[in-house]
Amino acid sequence: MDLRHDPRAHRDPTAGADPMSVPTWIDAWTLEDGAARVRARFAEVFDGEPDGVWSAPGRVNLIGEHTDYNGGLALPIALPHRTYVALRSRPDDVVRLVSGQEQGSREVDLSTVAPGTVEGWPSYVAGLAWALRQAGYAVSGFDAVVDSCVPYGSGLSSSAALESAFAVALDAVHGLGLAGTADAPDDAGRAVLADACVRAENEIAGAPTGGMDQAASLRARAGHALLLDCLDGSVRQEPFDLAAHDLALLVVDTKAEHSHATGEYGVRRASCEAAAVRLGVGTLREITPELLPQALERLADGSAEGDVQVRRVRHVVTEIARVVDFVAELEAGRPGGVGALMDASHVSLRDDYEVTCRELDLTVETARAAGAIGARMTGGGFGGSAIALVEASAVEHVAGAVADAFATAGLHAPAFLVATPAAPAS
Ligand code: GLA
Repeated sequence: MDLRHDPRAHRDPTAGADPMSVPTWIDAWTLEDGAARVRARFAEVFDGEPDGVWSAPGRVNLIGEHTDYNGGLALPIALPHRTYVALRSRPDDVVRLVSGQEQGSREVDLSTVAPGTVEGWPSYVAGLAWALRQAGYAVSGFDAVVDSCVPYGSGLSSSAALESAFAVALDAVHGLGLAGTADAPDDAGRAVLADACVRAENEIAGAPTGGMDQAASLRARAGHALLLDCLDGSVRQEPFDLAAHDLALLVVDTKAEHSHATGEYGVRRASCEAAAVRLGVGTLREITPELLPQALERLADGSAEGDVQVRRVRHVVTEIARVVDFVAELEAGRPGGVGALMDASHVSLRDDYEVTCRELDLTVETARAAGAIGARMTGGGFGGSAIALVEASAVEHVAGAVADAFATAGLHAPAFLVATPAAPAS
């Protein structure tokens, strides 16, 4: 049975008191449905047919948070929830964009794109075209319609899904030869596309994020988690089949909104970079768990910032080690053995990295109390989503308990999905 479509089918009547709240599930559109939506809208607003339809997934990260910009390891999976784009190339530099989530249209002149010139979501799209041009690829303007079932602002990488969908679209219409085919994706070419997406996000959209999200959307594989080494950009595909072990990954969109283009995310990154300079290393990846005690001793100089750096570095180094241990459990055929690693990751993100919030902590605590094997926030934090590893039969029970806890606390109702590792952009 496909857990995505009917999580309630796995309800375990012995799992405890009946939750009172009925959880809201975020359904993934089928590929056909997503494509039909953007095609129909395209014909309506732009007349005629698009050159084609492309799509790219959002992601959840299993473990390895705030490690990517430190040259560390991360382990995301691509979600079945995707952003769809119907696109038709133009001979000039004009970009016209319509979104299923917004009224009206947006227009950008590609020849004027530079840091700070494009506002809002079109900055990710125009930024991508700009970044491809910067990398030497001949890319012209286009008319495009986008629509998405990746919840926006939920920490599930709606922005990377948007960039990656346009990356494979522009690759196809301009014959760049980078993405390969759906059956035979070209990983090296996709790494080039992912780099362009990151430049778009960092330089044009102004969000100083690392590269994990774009790698997940472009380089993940169905049925696998993507072990991403951010030091050299290399990847390993780790088989990830929770259903075979009667387990499921419950994703909770807390609806606490976050943005990485402003504030705290960049502050965390700057703090890590400053600590690396003080330690005389290129990235914090060079600090192994063995070297950690002496590194922390060096950072603790009695100043408030030194104190902050101690905690930030302790998170990054221990988190990278947890990715290694997580993968070891998977490779030993024990996906149920990762619970303590997930819990420790959350505590580290809460206490040392300080990127959780009330909603994320409540989700994790409630899920654990309701029987989850492990739970943690996922993505950048400050809001967004959390994940819980649960027995397949307990999906509905744990979701109900979290929904109840939010209702009791007077918080916005969260939304849920069950994540299975899906296909990359195509
Ligand atoms: C956000 C960023 C990623 C990564 C995560 C934290 O999702 O976009 O690059 O840093 O936060 O792991």
